[in-house]
Amino acid sequence: MVDAAAPAIEIAGLSKRYGHDGKGTLALTDVDVTVGRHEFVTLVGPSGCGKSTLLKVISGIEPATSGSVRRFGETVTGPTPDIGMVFQSPVLMNWRTILDNVLFPIDALGLKRRDYADKAMALLKLAGLESFAKARPRELSGGMQQRAALCRALIYDPPFLLMDEPFGALDALTRDQMNVELMRIWSETKKATLLITHSVAEAVFLADRVLVMSGRPGSILADVAIDLPRPRQTSVRTTPVFGEYVRALSAMLGVHD
Ligand SMILES: Nc1ncnc2c1ncn2[C@@H]1O[C@H](COP(=O)(O)OP(=O)(O)O)[C@@H](O)[C@H]1O
Ligand SMILES: [Mg+2]
Repeated sequence: MVDAAAPAIEIAGLSKRYGHDGKGTLALTDVDVTVGRHEFVTLVGPSGCGKSTLLKVISGIEPATSGSVRRFGETVTGPTPDIGMVFQSPVLMNWRTILDNVLFPIDALGLKRRDYADKAMALLKLAGLESFAKARPRELSGGMQQRAALCRALIYDPPFLLMDEPFGALDALTRDQMNVELMRIWSETKKATLLITHSVAEAVFLADRVLVMSGRPGSILADVAIDLPRPRQTSVRTTPVFGEYVRALSAMLGVHD
């Protein structure tokens, strides 16, 4: 039974150790995370601290070692096809058009394409890619490809979005533009989102809350609410309050952004 009031993601006392003999890497320990139904939460932490592992446990790809992982009140027991995931690399298929890439999950799930064709075009329009529906991925810039990957993640109307350093491979300027685009798309859909990033500035710009992870084994060191009005423009990055968030979070991480 889906609990109508439950948060999109609710994790309590999670630990994750790889391997079957109890001797593998302890990636996560005592992790508590909640993502509300319309919340945008970002996660920052040192390399190798278990960020990707956390997303894999939430998506059901990796089992938890102990603790509870719930989505909309239901315990996660394994992978389900309805999860919206976006990775660092857009992994589009070069032999398919952009429209066909966006429709790929529909084909893979054996659903009727025609039921989703209008939605695919609406998403491409939202992402500023409507005139590229018939183009091949190689004809698009890295940022455009990543926007297409976001459309693909949204086509099946996933209950929430998990994004693992989605803009990590992009140059700084494209990345800033992508942040603005993502905010625009998110404000239309208001999907619960958990996004991992290496950039503290990106984490602050996008988030309702920023979670800071410790080094491995990862646990949540801090949960910082970002009290900046929406919609946010790129110019918010130059304000003192924004700078203060970035400074405080960077200090927790021991980095300079
Ligand atoms: N499939 C796996 N099997 C064994 N160890 C893994 C596996 N995936 C990740 N790890 C280990 O778990 C730790 C956390 O990895 P990861 O979640 O990828 O970190 P992050 O995304 O924060 O960089 C690392 O020490 C990594 O080597
Ligand atoms: Mg990772």
